[in-house]
Amino acid sequence: MKISFDPTVSRNSQSFGINKDRQPIVAGNWKCNMTSQQALQFAEDIQPKLNKYNKPGADKNSPTLVIAPGFLQIADLFNTLSQRLMIFMLGAQNGHYKHKDAYTGEVSMEQLKEAGVETVIIGHSERRANDNETDEKVNLKVKKALASGLIPIACVGETRAEREAGRTEEVISRQVVKALSDISSEDISKVVIAYEPVWAIGKGATPCSTDEANRVVGNIRELVRETYGDKADEVRILYGGNANPDNISDLMIHNGTPTEIDGALIGGAALDPVKLASMYDQTAAAWETVKA
Ligand code: PGA
Repeated sequence: MKISFDPTVSRNSQSFGINKDRQPIVAGNWKCNMTSQQALQFAEDIQPKLNKYNKPGADKNSPTLVIAPGFLQIADLFNTLSQRLMIFMLGAQNGHYKHKDAYTGEVSMEQLKEAGVETVIIGHSERRANDNETDEKVNLKVKKALASGLIPIACVGETRAEREAGRTEEVISRQVVKALSDISSEDISKVVIAYEPVWAIGKGATPCSTDEANRVVGNIRELVRETYGDKADEVRILYGGNANPDNISDLMIHNGTPTEIDGALIGGAALDPVKLASMYDQTAAAWETVKA
């Protein structure tokens, strides 16, 4: 994949906005929160709010709800939400690129798959910063996830220092190109990308504006298009970084125009069933508007 990412040009005009054919994703990343007891309580609390989506075809016709709990809570959500909500897709926050090998403390993609996991977050900025998750490892994990039948959610995002140095496009291009290295055009539509500017993540941080998030997400899609052509229109690209019930609708439809953003990767707000259900409802409403 070649890099020609022009920082001065917003290519959104070439793209189509949230798309009737691109099923949005509302994904909660629980990080290192929630005991099993709390996870089960969360499942009890959110399920009645989302039962209304349990209609034939809902797994395709409504946005996908993902929750990526800690490894030890995967079985709790598998036994509850995976069994009860058609829109639900069980996630994990990480997975290893090797199986049956000497990697003490790791959990393989095969093991996740066997536990009922369907999608896995890869390259979250916290893992890039704290756990030596390099671009190369991200790529190995994306490929291993696909080979194991999991949907990878590959995270990319610039730090505040990189943004202030005018390096946003360079960093995002590098991360996207490396993450997608050797992914076949058959597999590309299964890959989900999450644009998560590091400076917008976490308590007290200010979310990225919709205009800016949309600009970067649009540029990521055009970068994918350089290698994969029109298949780029099938790739879901999410925004993450203080996505919440107050900004999710605007992230999807801004000033009456559908954006390029296909949903959100949500940290803090995903710990509250009321907030996560509201974000799901708003995303579903936005997609209905686009499909109408
Ligand atoms: P936040 O986290 O929504 O709490 O900012 C997002 C993320 O880290 O994925």
